[in-house]
Amino acid sequence: MSLPHNRDQADRVVNGDVLQPARAYIMDYDGTEIARVYDKARTLAPETLRFWLDLVARDAAPAPGSLIIDLGCGTGRFSEPLAEHFDARVMGVDPSSKMLEQARGKLRGDRVVFECASASALPVADDAADLVFMSMVLHHLDDAAAVARECRRVLRKGGHVALRNSTGDTNFPKYRFFPAIGPIVAAELPPRSRIAEPFLNAGFRLSVHEIVPQVVGEDWQVYAQKTSVRADSFLSRISDADFATGMAALRAHAAEAPPGEVVTEDVDWFVFVA
Ligand SMILES: C[S@@+](CC[C@H](N)C(=O)[O-])C[C@H]1O[C@@H](n2cnc3c(N)ncnc32)[C@H](O)[C@@H]1O
Repeated sequence: MSLPHNRDQADRVVNGDVLQPARAYIMDYDGTEIARVYDKARTLAPETLRFWLDLVARDAAPAPGSLIIDLGCGTGRFSEPLAEHFDARVMGVDPSSKMLEQARGKLRGDRVVFECASASALPVADDAADLVFMSMVLHHLDDAAAVARECRRVLRKGGHVALRNSTGDTNFPKYRFFPAIGPIVAAELPPRSRIAEPFLNAGFRLSVHEIVPQVVGEDWQVYAQKTSVRADSFLSRISDADFATGMAALRAHAAEAPPGEVVTEDVDWFVFVA
């Protein structure tokens, strides 16, 4: 059985009930233009970036000079900040050459290297890393159990996996404007009660789970503008017609919403100890 990998095929799944297995919607970033617009829509405000680095420091601090793996690093939003904040070496790993091209293009120092690889086969020796950091990647993994085992292999005893991700329970503000993402989210994002399972089975201990509300738009106009560039793996796979209808509804809402009404979305934070 071939799985849908582009928008047209995914539409057939959403609209025509062709396939309903849990992994029906393969996301190939190189088959989209997301890499080009990702940072435009998803650059973290300095205080937001600082917030996440502080959480890493609190819950999973790597030793100076140690190796951090930024797994599914994408355009490197966290790669160099992690290296600088912890005075560490960072290997950013991602299978998308387009995302890595963006990441390489903004490197300033020499503490970060990027490798084109998948999370299930890391180009890293056993026990070599202090921290595996994963931001918004979990839902793209075909085999989370294999990835959890691979994380355990590359981490020294006492090292950490720090995970920031949406879950099947996330209160996405975009749901009300783009209902067509519902089946894709449901197929890809496990509920928060299931996120830990592959890591516990791989021999990790769960040390932290928190739900962190995060600002995704300083107001609805900003949120609509960011959403309009479609740098989102769920929005990239609904039909153009559904996207246009949703954007019209979102813009209408933004025009009516009180100025300065902040738009937030929960992000789950899990830390596992090897
Ligand atoms: C939403 S982006 C997140 C990027 C980055 N971590 C961030 O927070 O900005 C998801 C990334 O996961 C990557 N990805 C998809 N499948 C992967 C896999 N099997 N192993 C590692 N990364 C993967 C994608 O190529 C994409 O760059």
